[in-house]
Amino acid sequence: MLVEEFIPNTPIKKIDAGSVGYTSPSNIALVKYWGKKPHQIPANPSISFTLNHCKTETVLEFSPKNSDDFSFEVYLDGKKASDFRPKIKQFFERILPYASYVKDFHFDIKTSNTFPHSSGIASSASGMSALAMCIVALEELMYSNVDTDFLKRKASFLARLGSGSACRSIEGGLVVWGVHPNIFGSSDLEGMQYPYEVHDVFKTYQDAILLVDKGEKQVSSSVGHNLMHNHPYAQSRFEQAHTHLNQLIPILKSGDMNGFITIVEKEALTLHAMMMSSDPYFILMKPNTLEIINLIWTYRKNTNIPVCFTLDAGANVHVLYPKEYAQKVELFIQHELSVYCQNKQYILDNVGNGAKRIKN
Ligand code: PMV
Repeated sequence: MLVEEFIPNTPIKKIDAGSVGYTSPSNIALVKYWGKKPHQIPANPSISFTLNHCKTETVLEFSPKNSDDFSFEVYLDGKKASDFRPKIKQFFERILPYASYVKDFHFDIKTSNTFPHSSGIASSASGMSALAMCIVALEELMYSNVDTDFLKRKASFLARLGSGSACRSIEGGLVVWGVHPNIFGSSDLEGMQYPYEVHDVFKTYQDAILLVDKGEKQVSSSVGHNLMHNHPYAQSRFEQAHTHLNQLIPILKSGDMNGFITIVEKEALTLHAMMMSSDPYFILMKPNTLEIINLIWTYRKNTNIPVCFTLDAGANVHVLYPKEYAQKVELFIQHELSVYCQNKQYILDNVGNGAKRIKN
């Protein structure tokens, strides 16, 4: 499958050695992407909040070369990180039809995360989106007549080829990825900002990430996605995601907290239910994940504060709440939930604006 729109055809300007830098955030899905088709096409549409503080900063140093191969070195926090090489090589191979110029340069990719390394927070979304932004910035230097909106779309398209959910990190606010018949312009190929009215409450939503387990995941996302092939509940799960996204449209407009909470928590538990009913089955939640969920439910019942949780493909819990309740909820987290986190660690984040150029 080739998507002509993203293949550059205008003449190339020769450029010398230089560097470009981008920072790009992580994102947290409200309706989850779990299961994919070839070429990183999602089995169902998803929607996420772009985060603000959990980010990757990447500087791409480039120097022209003549050989017909990929030539790059990766550095994490200033140290050579050879374990990232296979994932980045695969990324370059996948984007080659759309960015053939990646073979014309040697790259030093210098990257760091604002969140603790091996915190169990997936750095693939922020990392791949930051790198994709750097690649299109390089394209911008070489080609004339490219507009910024197109380059952002292309960055999302390329980021998707590196790690599916990374395509939702370029834009800020609420981002949709995957075709939904009732969301105009939605695409399987790239993320786009949610196009309809959004209640103010969702523009400043808070996400406290409770670090329950900072270890390496026992089952990677790619293995998990693959297990949705031949999964006995796959079809109904994909239909459910469509229904949830449809139900979210009026909820996001009106600010209906109960409606929002019900969908978000159902999505989180369904994601893990899919893992627990795969063949082979697996569990990524830990006992403390469940302790925290139960405490959130009790707190919500006792206080009527609209706080809820969601989960990624891991044991960490994302606690979601409106900004007006931040002070109260953060005291609750500090006093009652942090004891269930490794070293009592958690990260306070909120909805952010997407990828940004690093000024040099
Ligand atoms: O982008 P991947 O392949 O790491 O998959 C992400 C899957 C979830 O985080 C579990 C859900 C989502 O939509 O982000």
